[in-house]
Amino acid sequence: MDAELSKEKVKVLPLEKNDIYVYGSLMRKTLKTVQCSDDYLNDLTSNAFSRYFKMVEGGTFIGALSIWHVFEDIQILTIGICPSLQGRGFGNQLMLFLLDYAKMHAVERLSLEVRLSNQVAIQFYEKFGFKKEAIRKNYYNDGEDAHLMVKYV
Ligand SMILES: CC(C)(COP(=O)(O)OP(=O)(O)OC[C@H]1O[C@@H](n2cnc3c(N)ncnc32)[C@H](O)[C@@H]1OP(=O)(O)O)[C@@H](O)C(=O)NCCC(=O)NCCS
Repeated sequence: MDAELSKEKVKVLPLEKNDIYVYGSLMRKTLKTVQCSDDYLNDLTSNAFSRYFKMVEGGTFIGALSIWHVFEDIQILTIGICPSLQGRGFGNQLMLFLLDYAKMHAVERLSLEVRLSNQVAIQFYEKFGFKKEAIRKNYYNDGEDAHLMVKYV
């Protein structure tokens, strides 16, 4: 099925409550997260600042993005592409969507945390102009540190 995916037909849409279990499963597969789907559901439905998006082509769930958008600031919580579809430009497309969203909403600053060991993601963010700004010690449950990365727009 993957080979048939067409970039032109890919859409980024708001994630709905019904999608949250697919989203949770993607997050557990792509990130070493221990959060369960109900945590995400709670954030999606109860946090006025959270925005969740899914990338789909027809019925195929390609990836997802979640942010906290607080006035002129965006914190990227997660961005993930299904493992079998990584390295094919979908992450690029999702980031371009986010940068358009940021422009439309007059956002001044985007930030995120990423594991020191996650070289692919670090390269991905650097490609879009994010810079390492600080180290957050013991940021993850397993004790790994995070880079705080920031982009000013
Ligand atoms: C990071 C991620 C979202 C990138 O999405 P993707 O669809 O695989 O990436 P793309 O094919 O669009 O490539 C975009 C850029 O990412 C970087 N990249 C992608 N795959 C890479 C690899 N294997 N090695 C190094 N850099 C890589 C490159 O900078 C690439 O730019 P280029 O195409 O000009 O070389 C995806 O790999 C992913 O879901 N990873 C697991 C979840 C994760 O770590 N999320 C970030 C947590 S903070």
